[in-house]
Amino acid sequence: MWKVSCDRAVVSSPATIANFGPGFDSFGLCLDAPRDRIVVRRLPKGRHEVKVLGKYSLPTNPEKNTASYSAMKLAELCGSSDAGFSMSVRKGMKPGSGLGSSAASSVGGAVAMAAVLGVRDKGMILEASAMGEELVAGSRHFDNVSAALYGGFTVVSDLKTRKILRIRPPRFQIIIALPDISVETRVARSMLPSSVEMKDAVCNVGLASGMLHAMLTRNVRMIGSYLDDKLALPHRMKLIPGYSEVRDAAMGAGALGFSIGGSGPAVFAISQGNAQKIRKAMVSGFKSVGLKSDSFITVPGTGVKVEKRS
Ligand code: HSE
Repeated sequence: MWKVSCDRAVVSSPATIANFGPGFDSFGLCLDAPRDRIVVRRLPKGRHEVKVLGKYSLPTNPEKNTASYSAMKLAELCGSSDAGFSMSVRKGMKPGSGLGSSAASSVGGAVAMAAVLGVRDKGMILEASAMGEELVAGSRHFDNVSAALYGGFTVVSDLKTRKILRIRPPRFQIIIALPDISVETRVARSMLPSSVEMKDAVCNVGLASGMLHAMLTRNVRMIGSYLDDKLALPHRMKLIPGYSEVRDAAMGAGALGFSIGGSGPAVFAISQGNAQKIRKAMVSGFKSVGLKSDSFITVPGTGVKVEKRS
C-alpha cells in the first residue's frame, strides 16, 4: 500500500459473492460492479463525521456506520485511535441483498483510512474490515471482505491464521437477480443448524475441491457444475420464494450453474454467452411467483481501488 499519509482519499469498493456454492464462509468472488464510493478527509484529532449520499439510507452515527466503524478500527489497530476524519459513503448496492454490501462498506472504509494514514499492512486492513462486517452481520466472517480486498476468487483456507488464498478466475458472465425482499445476514445465519450430517460434509468437501480444481484449470463449465451446497443452501432457499423456478429458468436459458449470493436473497447464474437471455428468464421466474426483481450482468473483478489520494 502507501508509505506516506495524505489528507484525502477516494476509494471504490466492490460487491462480492460469498460462499460461491460449496464454500460456506470460505469462498468469495469479487465482482467488477456494483461498487460503493467512499471519500475520507482528515479532520482535527478526535472528530468523526459521516455523510450518506444516494438512495440507500444508512446510519450516520460514526460508531454505527460500517464504513466509518472499520475506519476507526483501522486507526486503532495502527495506534492512531485519535485520528479525526470526515467520510462520505455512496452505496452502489442495496444493503441486505446478499451481494456483500456490508463488506464493500467496511473494506472501503478501512482502505480509505489506510490511504490517509499511510498504512500498508493488508493483514491489518483485513482485520479492521472484518470488525466492520461483524457490526452488521453479528459474526466476523472473512469471505466477503477477503474477496473485496484482494479481488478475484479468494479462499479463507485457515481462519485462525487468517490465511487467504487468491486465485485469478477465468472470465465469465455473472447474472444476478435481486428479488424485492430483504434477508438479514444475521437472520439467515441464525437459521443454520449447529451441526451437519457426515454425508453432507463429505459431499461439500468433494464439491469445494472440485470448485478449486475448476478455478485453477480455468474451466468455466466445470465451475458451473460445482455450484452446489449441502450445508447452507437447503435451509436458505426457503427464504427465497421462487428459488427453484428461477434456477430452472436460468438453467433452461443456458446458464452453466446457479446459486444464492451469500446469505441471499440475491441469486446468481454464471455463463459464457446467453447472458441477456438468462437474465430475462430469471426475472420471469421471480415474476411467476409474484415477485419483482432487479437484475444485472457483471464479470469477476479485481478488488477495492484507491481512485485518488491528495
Ligand atoms: N458466508 C456468509 C453467510 C456470507 O453465508 O452467512 C454473508 O454474506
